[in-house]
Amino acid sequence: MHINFKIVYKIILPEIFEISGFFLFIFSYNKIKEELTVEKIRYFDHAATTYVKDEVLKAMIPYFGLNYGNPSSIYTIGRHNKREIDYAREQVSRVIGAKSPKEIYFTGCGSESDNLAIKGVAKANKHKGNHIITTKIEHHAVLETCESLEKEGFKITYLNVDKYGKINLAELENAITDKTILISIMAANNEIGTIEPIEEIGKIAKKHGIYFHTDAVQGIGNIKINVQKCNIDMLSLSAHKFYGPKGVGALYVRQGVEFEKQQNGGHQEKDKRAGTENVAGIVGLRKGNRTCI
Ligand SMILES: Cc1ncc(COP(=O)(O)O)c(C=O)c1O
Repeated sequence: MHINFKIVYKIILPEIFEISGFFLFIFSYNKIKEELTVEKIRYFDHAATTYVKDEVLKAMIPYFGLNYGNPSSIYTIGRHNKREIDYAREQVSRVIGAKSPKEIYFTGCGSESDNLAIKGVAKANKHKGNHIITTKIEHHAVLETCESLEKEGFKITYLNVDKYGKINLAELENAITDKTILISIMAANNEIGTIEPIEEIGKIAKKHGIYFHTDAVQGIGNIKINVQKCNIDMLSLSAHKFYGPKGVGALYVRQGVEFEKQQNGGHQEKDKRAGTENVAGIVGLRKGNRTCI
């Protein structure tokens, strides 16, 4: 029998690999699914992320389907989605005790909120000073943002913490100079869980007329934070830390804070954060936020 090896190598073998690959894929997919079922795994690292609660997922699903309107458009489905975003704004502002929902800006994650707060204030207030105070134990989203500002001529003080991870308030006050424009100190640490004295930090910031930003990504959903009581000017949060989806966050900016947008394009989020809003994500953030209070 004559065997045409050209046909075997070029057509028959790839077909066999493709078909067996397909069955292998189905087999391994089912295996992974089986291994990852909630009943089987015991997951403890809720600081890294939380699962999306069923009611959160249910609330989000319509926004991947029929409710696909662009919130900036004038059609009914667009206006409906804009309203949904505004409900979420109200929800977040209520949870953190903001004066107005207008002070809430939705972002793509906690890291983006940190970047926007720190760079936004630094760049808009360069004429007042170039000094920022933070700590050595901040999340990379804060530390690397500060490092990038150092390259642009800003001076950063990285405060030490004690063996419990707490800052020293006297050290903070001593670090303030007439060039200090911003204090950025986290509400709760992502590795050791230390809760920083944000109310006292807020008092110091207010006394010296300096903006206070807190990265509350690990705080919101676990501890009560009232931005007015704590004199917080900006606060970052992220939905995936409180049973919401990944890839959506928010930044609170007190009315009157001078800050510059960091992303150019559309005029969404009161012209402070360009980009069509992640409606499903924002609905999930709202729902997750509701379930944890
Ligand atoms: C304290 C803190 N800040 C910021 C972030 C970044 O948030 P996201 O993952 O939404 O970018 C995290 C995430 O682990 C965090 O723990």
